[in-house]
Order: sequence, then C-alpha cells, then structure tokens
Amino acid sequence: MRRTPLLFAALVLTAVVISPRAPAAGPARVIARQDATTKTIWDGIYTEEQARRGEQVFKSECSYCHRDDLAGGFLDDGVERAPALAGPRAFGSSLVERWKDLTLTDMVATIAATMPQQKPASLTLQAYLDVVGYLFSKNNIPAGSRELPSDVESLGQLLITAKK
Ligand code: HEC
Repeated sequence: MRRTPLLFAALVLTAVVISPRAPAAGPARVIARQDATTKTIWDGIYTEEQARRGEQVFKSECSYCHRDDLAGGFLDDGVERAPALAGPRAFGSSLVERWKDLTLTDMVATIAATMPQQKPASLTLQAYLDVVGYLFSKNNIPAGSRELPSDVESLGQLLITAKK
C-alpha cells in the first residue's frame, strides 16, 4: 500500500510535465474543446460529504503545522512557517491567486508531492482529494453533488479560475 501514493504522485507529475497546453492545435480548436469539457471550481466539483472526510484527514495529517483553524503558523524550529490555507492571506494571497489557471491535476499533484512536509506522498489519492475538498469548503468554494474524480484525465479538465 505504501507504494501506491508514491506511484500516483509520479504518475500525476509525469502527466503535468508531458501535457503542455497543446499550442499546436490552434486557438479555435482548443477553445472549442475546453467549452465542451472544462468545468471550474465554481461548478460544484466536490461534495460536502467529501469535505467532511477531508477534515478528518486534515486533523490527523496537516493541522499539526497548518493549525486546526487553518491559519498556519511557525513550525517547531521557530523559523519555518506553514502558510494559512484559509482566511485572509490563504496560500500567501488566496486559493485562487495561488492556483489560478491551473487544473486540479496540478493542485493535487503539487500537494501530494510535497505534503505532509515530513512525509510527502504518504497518503492515498483519495485522502489527498478529500483534503482538497476540505480546503475548497474552507475557502468559500461551493460544494455540489459529485465528488472530485480520481482519474488524472478528469482532474485535468477541472480548472481553477477567479469567480465569474
Ligand atoms: C510538518 C509540518 C507540515 C505538515 C504536517 C503539513 N504541512 Fe503543508 N506546509 C508546511 C510548510 C512549512 C509549507 C511551506 C513550505 C512549502 O510549501 O513546502 C507548507 C505548504 C503547504 C501548502 C502550500 C503549497 C503551495 O505550493 O502553495 C499546502 C497547500 C499545504 N502545505 C497543504 C498541506 C496538507 C494538505 C497537509 C496534510 C496532508 C500538510 N500541508 C501537512 C508544513 C506542513
């Protein structure tokens, strides 16, 4: 089991690296394709139930550094600081500012590859998805009726944008 999340992270990172935004296809075709398939974080792409599961993950794996209220704070060394993940200055500015124009693949892969800081890629893909759902819920991004998908291709069609 320990291998699975590592493998996943490697897979996702590969996907990120090898899928540039297809400039050769021509702008019109790219836009047509995006209209047909792309949803954004404002379309209800996770569920409240998923966010509740994510809260449990967060409490056991993340809140030690990012704090129960997600406000972040200094680590034990008193020097390094875990950023706030909700509220003013979340992610250094805001969730949207930090991840704007990236896809859920980018966000999940980055978090999976780097967190929990002392043990990156140690959780299951489902746990990472659930915790991202929790972060959405804490950043006023609306829940919907479908959970975040667990395949890389579908995740790659979910875009982080500023609110319309
Ligand atoms: C041992 C302390 C620690 C734990 C545990 C921890 N983090 Fe972090 N986290 C940090 C620090 C320090 C940073 C800032 C430096 C960095 O990005 O590596 C950070 C940064 C982040 C970022 C911002 C990354 C970016 O690129 O903007 C996110 C998101 C995040 N953590 C999520 C999580 C989640 C989710 C968990 C639990 C699965 C978690 N962290 C567990 C210390 C921690």
